[in-house]
Amino acid sequence: MLKLAIILGSTRPGRKGEAVAHWVHEIAKKRGDAEFELVDIKDFNLPLLDEPVPPSMGQYMHPHTKAWSAKIDSFDAYVFVTPEYNHGTSGALKNAIDYLYREWNNKAAGFVGYGSAGGTRAVESLRLVMGELQVADVRSQVMLSLHTDFENFSVFKPAARHEASVNAMLDQLIAWGGALKTLRKT
Ligand SMILES: Cc1cc2nc3c(=O)[nH]c(=O)nc-3n(C[C@H](O)[C@H](O)[C@H](O)COP(=O)(O)O)c2cc1C
Repeated sequence: MLKLAIILGSTRPGRKGEAVAHWVHEIAKKRGDAEFELVDIKDFNLPLLDEPVPPSMGQYMHPHTKAWSAKIDSFDAYVFVTPEYNHGTSGALKNAIDYLYREWNNKAAGFVGYGSAGGTRAVESLRLVMGELQVADVRSQVMLSLHTDFENFSVFKPAARHEASVNAMLDQLIAWGGALKTLRKT
């Protein structure tokens, strides 16, 4: 069975990302075609990248990097749940991604964005990053609006149609995650 991580990409107190990531996880758990785990980058207490050797060399010095590496390495594919900050993803998520290299390679990614324009610009910024990490990013994405999916811009109440878009994204992600697993075995 493929193992997928749902990566919660915001860390600030009062983050909306927590409700969004749990919602994605609940939808994913109804499926029987993969295993899903919610991974909260906040739990890893990653400082701003503090490894002296570039991640592509895989020579990690710090325990926090080794723990993050082991966790990310254990998955076949990733769902990035990303806020939009200044038309990009969060600094915390970009920093967590930058910590590693080989662990991401030849895997697949899908996205759930949220913001005033559905988090679309944050997701576009992540798609550029995925190319450099040799991650195959699937086309379908989930776009949650602060205007219509959060009551009073705060309480998460997603429109019913988004459940189908989560599953459409997961369908593609599981297909590509499985295909790329065969490549990693060779
Ligand atoms: C530093 C910062 C910059 C933001 N910039 C944008 C933006 O460019 N576009 C947008 O749609 N929302 C923007 N927002 C609003 C966020 O999408 C909204 O606050 C969301 O709840 C952030 O996710 P979080 O609560 O999980 O941290 C910004 C919020 C912050 C804190």
